[in-house]
Amino acid sequence: MKYPVWMDVDTGTDDAVAILALHKLDCTEIIGISTVCGNSGLENSYRNTRSLNTVCRSSYPVYRGADKPLVREPFHALAVHGKNGLGDIIVPLPENETEYHEAAWEALYKAAREYKGKLKLIATGPLTNIAIAFTEYPDLKEYLDTILIMGGATREGNVTPCAEFNFYADPEAASIVLKSGVPIVLCPLDVTEKALLSPEDMEELRACGNDAGKFVFDILQKPWSFHKSIGNKGVQMHDSCPVLYLAYPEIFEGEEAGVVVETKSPLTRGKSVTDLYSDKQFEFKNALVVLDVDRKAFSEKLKELIKGI
Ligand code: RIB
Ligand code: CA
Repeated sequence: MKYPVWMDVDTGTDDAVAILALHKLDCTEIIGISTVCGNSGLENSYRNTRSLNTVCRSSYPVYRGADKPLVREPFHALAVHGKNGLGDIIVPLPENETEYHEAAWEALYKAAREYKGKLKLIATGPLTNIAIAFTEYPDLKEYLDTILIMGGATREGNVTPCAEFNFYADPEAASIVLKSGVPIVLCPLDVTEKALLSPEDMEELRACGNDAGKFVFDILQKPWSFHKSIGNKGVQMHDSCPVLYLAYPEIFEGEEAGVVVETKSPLTRGKSVTDLYSDKQFEFKNALVVLDVDRKAFSEKLKELIKGI
């Protein structure tokens, strides 16, 4: 029995790798992919995601979502992902592709209703589309099995000392989604910064002989030069964490916790506040917070999936 899965992405180089991995998983079926303003503008997220249908020789429906956060100005990460969001690599769009014109939140709601509560949602960008969906369709929470999110940080951020990019870019949206009442698996920077592809891993993919391996190598060169410049030993595959968690939860470790997102203070905007490390506990546990991963198992499984496309 395959899990029906919907992805919401801001493709993005690591989003792209996560989509390729999800495409190859045996235990999932991709029902649709919605795109959001994040790493770069919405039109880049939308085009980049459609171009993955060329790499995968697939025809997943791709939808446009929000072109800016709920109330904030757009905030991008071009230094990491390049001007076009895909490491400045251009892949042709699929020939004879079908374009879908429903808004992301409308398409997500319809899919959730169709799968009668079995749909799993993987979110790897700012949570704007999902917050809009919950607002437009209050009963959506009845029709989602789980939301697996790349976002937040229980300790240091990567945009400010407090906040991780996806939660910083749209903290109001993150707050709405964390309060939705749907079971959540949260993959914060605590685990995703350990989920690296090393230069040797990238070279192994380049040389593996398929288009997907060469594509991954090519799009990761820009992020790699960024990560190298700040002393990291590889490229952080943030967005593949919720994807691999679905198929291989045994390589991860996590704890149930109460998680709230700060939206008021400029200093702590987007901080994910958890009760993991405090005597004072929240009165709720709204997320399984994934904190660790077997790094070698992660990279080997991710490479195996990419090589198999
Ligand atoms: O902080 C990392 C997250 O921000 C990843 O999802 C990356 O793609 C960017 O969206
Ligand atoms: Ca992303």
